[in-house]
Amino acid sequence: MPYTVSKLTDFSPAALDAAVRELLSALEEESEAVVCEQQMEPYENPWKAFRDRWMARKNGILTQLNDLWLKAAPGPSKKDVGQRVNELRKTVEGMVEVAQKRLLFAKAVPTEVIHPGIEVPADELEAYAKRVALASQRVDITLPGIRRPIGAEHPVIKTMNEMIAVFRNLGFSVEEGPEVETDFYNFEALNFPPNHPARDTQDTLFIAGQESKPPRDRLLLRTHTSPVQIRTMQKMKPPVRVVCPGKVHRNDALDATHSPIFHQIEGLAVDTNITFCDLKGTLDHAMKAMFGSNVKTRFYPSFFPFTEPSADVQISCIFCDGKGVRDGAPCRNCKASGWIELLGCGMVDPNVYGFVDYDASKYSGFAFGMGVERIAILKYGVDDIQLFFSGDVRFLEQFG
Ligand code: PHE
Repeated sequence: MPYTVSKLTDFSPAALDAAVRELLSALEEESEAVVCEQQMEPYENPWKAFRDRWMARKNGILTQLNDLWLKAAPGPSKKDVGQRVNELRKTVEGMVEVAQKRLLFAKAVPTEVIHPGIEVPADELEAYAKRVALASQRVDITLPGIRRPIGAEHPVIKTMNEMIAVFRNLGFSVEEGPEVETDFYNFEALNFPPNHPARDTQDTLFIAGQESKPPRDRLLLRTHTSPVQIRTMQKMKPPVRVVCPGKVHRNDALDATHSPIFHQIEGLAVDTNITFCDLKGTLDHAMKAMFGSNVKTRFYPSFFPFTEPSADVQISCIFCDGKGVRDGAPCRNCKASGWIELLGCGMVDPNVYGFVDYDASKYSGFAFGMGVERIAILKYGVDDIQLFFSGDVRFLEQFG
């Protein structure tokens, strides 16, 4: 039976002597046991349990002495009991400390030297304690480490970064803009007149409840990265050479090739004497850098309100080398045409300069915008755009 503090009824010196003796012999026995046990079980901590059993504030034996002996003592015995309890407190604290030192000592010197009654000079003990403390902090560098799986760069971000790197090498810098835009930046300043049918092609998602605002201040989810062109030109004077990567939103039903959320990279270059030749050269180089130097580009007339003239850029099909035929069958990737349409571009419409206080008679420029997922799909042979957004690790880890 482990020792428990008994309720005292008899507070005579003789009875107190007996109670104290009982407690001390229990203390001695337990402290001895702890030292032996600890040496056998170095990974547990019986010493801490020992300390808590005797000294824990909440229900340690010393606390119980206060409650069961001191508080219970009748007036005339209070002083005697108080002194004994104080004495016991010191003894217990001392024993707990000695037990700890003996344990440290035991760890630091060979077991055969240890003897319970051994006298160790205080400074020696200190040195041992330090040595033990250091030894306990030693790291075993031969243990295998804890492996934290590091994620892989998402294929969309990876493609985005690769594309940005191509343009950085041409001297473009990076600009970003907000995903929640005003009608002004997404449409008006890009030369989409109010109620113009070209707005319908953008399948815009509007933020609800803004009828009280003037139309140009109404918020929407940007449908393209082109508003960053305007923000950039408001911020800096020519020469401008920027690419603007980012997320865009359209009210499209999702299928294998459409997602209501996707990414674009916008490009804008404005300076004196920028011509369509610069646009062609820049994009031809970029497509070759991204898809291989065999790739050809073709500029096909198109329309955007903010560029004039406008073009769609097609690259020669990377699956059939532009032949339209693969393995004796019509190429499915380019619908046997030999060309794949990749991006929109054009010369900045002079009307746009009017919105940003650029002198249209002095400056000219080109702009382009491309879908990142579309390029990633081609580069990595992905057959469903949803794979980019479903978060399936089996898909994503292939890009690690
Ligand atoms: N913003 C256009 C779109 O999303 C692409 C584009 C950008 C076209 C720049 C011309 C110039 O369809």
